[in-house]
Amino acid sequence: ANKAVLGPLVGAVDQGTSSTRFLVFNSKTAELLSHHQVELKQEFPKEGWVEQDPKEILNSVYECIEKTCEKLGQLNIDISNIKAIGVSNQRETTVVWDKLTGEPLYNAVVWLDLRTQSTVENLSKRIPGNNNFVKSKTGLPLSTYFSAVKPRWLLDNVRKVQKAVEEERALFGTVDSWLIWCLTGGANGGVHCTDVTNASRTMLFNIHSLEWDKELCEFFEIPMKILPNVRSSSEIYGLMKAGALEGVPISGCLGDQSAALVGQMCFQDGQAKNTYGTGCFLLCNTGRKCVFSEHGLLTTVAYKLGRDKPVYYALEGSVAIAGAVVRWLRDNLGIIKTSEEIEKLAKEVGTSYGCYFVPAFSGLYAPYWEPSARGIICGLTQFTNRCHIAFAALEAVCFQTREILDAMNRDCGMPLRHLQVDGGMTNNKILMQLQADILYIPVVKPSMPETTALGAAMAAGAAEGVGVWSLDPEDLSAVTVERFEPQINAEESEIRYSTWKKAVMKSMGWVT
Ligand code: G3P
Repeated sequence: ANKAVLGPLVGAVDQGTSSTRFLVFNSKTAELLSHHQVELKQEFPKEGWVEQDPKEILNSVYECIEKTCEKLGQLNIDISNIKAIGVSNQRETTVVWDKLTGEPLYNAVVWLDLRTQSTVENLSKRIPGNNNFVKSKTGLPLSTYFSAVKPRWLLDNVRKVQKAVEEERALFGTVDSWLIWCLTGGANGGVHCTDVTNASRTMLFNIHSLEWDKELCEFFEIPMKILPNVRSSSEIYGLMKAGALEGVPISGCLGDQSAALVGQMCFQDGQAKNTYGTGCFLLCNTGRKCVFSEHGLLTTVAYKLGRDKPVYYALEGSVAIAGAVVRWLRDNLGIIKTSEEIEKLAKEVGTSYGCYFVPAFSGLYAPYWEPSARGIICGLTQFTNRCHIAFAALEAVCFQTREILDAMNRDCGMPLRHLQVDGGMTNNKILMQLQADILYIPVVKPSMPETTALGAAMAAGAAEGVGVWSLDPEDLSAVTVERFEPQINAEESEIRYSTWKKAVMKSMGWVT
C-alpha cells in the first residue's frame, strides 16, 4: 500500500522519573501521530536513597522509539518523514560513566535522593563569602535536589568512580547527556553535551554567564574535565547512530519542565504552567531577566532556542511529590491496583473527612526547603477509610501547588488569573476540580496534554539546519483547552488550606 504523505514529522523523547515515552508529531499541525510508553523501575536501596539503572533508561528509550515506529508503519506513515528528534528529561538525576567502555560506573542517583544530606550540611558550613554564594550564581538553594552533590558523593564513596576520574575515563551527565552520548554513538564517537536548561539544575552552572563556574566547581570539588559541553536548547548535537531512526539529527534538548513551558507556548513574560508528573513544577517565564525569589522559589533557565538566540529565565516552584504519592499508595500500601483507580476512590467519598496527608517523602521542597520533614497522615478517626486517604493524597497535590502559586504571586506582584496545567495526573478530573477549588482560580488544560514532548519536538524541529517547525507566534497552532472553574466558596477553600498548613508544620523536624 502507498504510505500516506504527510508534512515533516518530529519525534520527541520524554524521559521522566516514572516512565519513558517517544512521541511523533506533525510539524505543521502539532498533531500527535503516535507514541509508546514504558514504565521505569526505581530502586530504594536504603531509606531516603533513590536510584535508577542508566542502562534500563537507555533501553526504554530505544524500545519506545522502535515501538512507535512500528505503530507509525501500521498507520501507513513513512518514518523517513521524521526529520529531527528532541530530548526532554527528568532533571538533576546524575549519571557517571566510562567513556571507553560506555558502561555506567554506578546507578543513576535520582533527583529525589537524600543520601547527600550530610554533604549539604557540611558544605553549607563552609560557603565562602556570604550565604548567597551558590544562589546568586545558580539561582538555586544548596540542596540534595540538585546535581553537584551527587557526583561529589560518588567521588567520595565509589572507588570505581574515583579511579575512572583519575584515569580520565569518567564522564558526568544529567540524563539528557547520558542519552545523547549513547544515542549518537557512545564509546564510538558519542557527543558529550547538555543544554542550558539542564545545566542550570546542577549547581555548577552560572546562569548569568551561561558557563560552568570555576568557583562553584572548586567549592563542590568537581573536576571540570568530566562536565559536558553546554549548548543551546535548539541546535543539531549529533545524529542517531542506531535503530529505526539511524541518521536522524538530535536537535532539541530541554529539561522536562522547560520543555513543558515551551509546549504550553508560555513565551511571554508572566506566562506560567504547572506540570503534574512524579513531582509538580510551576514555572513562570520572567523573560530575559533573572528574577530572584524572596519566597522560596528557584531561578532557572527557561530556554535558549538557538545558538544565537537570547536566553529566557523562569521562576520555579518545585514540589517533590505529586504523582509519586499515587504510586506509593499503589506499590507500598496496595490500596489501589492502578494509578487511575485513585480517581474512583476519591469520587466515592468526595471529601477527605478531615484527613490530611503531607507526602514529605523527600523532605519538603518549595517554598520550605526543609530536609527534616517526613510524610504524615493526620486527622484520622475510626471513620477514615482508604477512600478518604486517596482523597487526601489528591488534595495534598493541590495544596502544595497552592503554596507555590502564592509564593509566585508574591514574587511577581501580579497574581496569576488562571493556571495552565499539563502532565499525566491532569487526566484525573477530580484532581483538576479540586485544584480549581483550592486555588480559587480557573484551571486550564490543553486537549493535547503531552506538552513536555511537544516542547522538545518544537525545539528540535526549529533548529538551524532542520527548520521544519516555525516558532513564529503567528504560525503556532491555537491550543484547544478544557477549563475547570472553582465551585466551592472562597471561605471554605481558605479553611481547608489553613488546616493543611497546620499539617505541614507537624511534618517538619522529624529527622535531625
Ligand atoms: O526536577 C525533576 C523533574 O524534572 C522531574 O520531572 O516529570 O519526572 O516529575 P518528572
